[in-house]
Amino acid sequence: MILSIESSCDDSSLAVTHIETNELIYHKKISQELQHSVYGGVVPELAARLHIEALPKILEECKEYFPKLKAIAVTNAPGLSVTLTEGVTMAKALAISLNLPLIAVNHLKGHIYSLFIEKDEVLPMTVLLVSGGHTQIIEANGLNDMRVIASTMDDSFGESFDKVSKMLGLGYPGGPVVQEYGLKGDENRFDFPVPLRQSPKIEFSYSGLKNAVRLEIEKLENSEAGVTLQDKYDICASFQKTAVLHIMQKLKKLFKQKVPKNFAIVGGASANIHLRSQLEELCKKHNTSLYLSELKYCSDNAAMIGRVAVEQYKQNDFISIDEIDVQTRIKGLIWA
Ligand code: KG4
Ligand code: ZN
Repeated sequence: MILSIESSCDDSSLAVTHIETNELIYHKKISQELQHSVYGGVVPELAARLHIEALPKILEECKEYFPKLKAIAVTNAPGLSVTLTEGVTMAKALAISLNLPLIAVNHLKGHIYSLFIEKDEVLPMTVLLVSGGHTQIIEANGLNDMRVIASTMDDSFGESFDKVSKMLGLGYPGGPVVQEYGLKGDENRFDFPVPLRQSPKIEFSYSGLKNAVRLEIEKLENSEAGVTLQDKYDICASFQKTAVLHIMQKLKKLFKQKVPKNFAIVGGASANIHLRSQLEELCKKHNTSLYLSELKYCSDNAAMIGRVAVEQYKQNDFISIDEIDVQTRIKGLIWA
């Protein structure tokens, strides 16, 4: 079995995965969303402090598996450096005290492997990764051959939901609450501009849309009635429609160039129901097999890290305690 640790942002999570069967033997996650909500975003130092409390608490529950462990795996990039450090420090301590090899896992590969938790790997696959930190399209050919073919030029899809939520005073994370408010709103009330609509390039941008929403909120704030609850519902619905439309327009371009055999959507924001249903339609139309992670594995978790680690273990992809470091970004367009 492999014990895996995830602490790249605001979720403290540990998992134990069976190497031969991929069975998820143990999995627990303590989220910090409530503690960060008042600030409208993740406060790195607060997050690190909360990991220091949560990680050892969860580890206590994993002790019974210690005699069966073959390796310790940990997310080392990308993420917040102060929070990644907490997980990596714990992983190093465990590797030393239990005399086990260490596996460093790329968090973004983890999101892709969230598709394969307790399942066999299905690659190659074209993957849309939408999270708080990333909006990318990746050609995932194999564990060590993943190519980023499109990215955002500024904000990410999930981040834009977080920012709109913050502007409307709806707390963090923004995705779920904006989606919920949107259900009660009129998506045609505000005509927000679809980003990069005229551009032939397949790339993303969310800062312009975010600013258009900000200007609309300011206009409403200066009106006699101020920003009403119905205004908030309508802004969320209209914003969400445009944010999803932007992704769909670019994906249609991609499908026009070459129809993928397998397509997947992963990352925390892949929980968005509109994005999911429109992708289902697009894939159905092109006879592409669509893969979605289970909702519980869309956001950050150690089960997905453990699933990547199983493959790395089989390839003897270990790292020494002195070599492992934390990186806030993954450099380059090809992930080795
Ligand atoms: O993957 P994740 O848990 O953390 C990162 O690695 O960033 O993704 C969290 C992001 C947040 O920005 C959150 O607002 C967004 O995913 N999110 C959503 C939804 N649920 C979560 N965005 C849009 N619609 C949702 N339903
Ligand atoms: Zn993530």
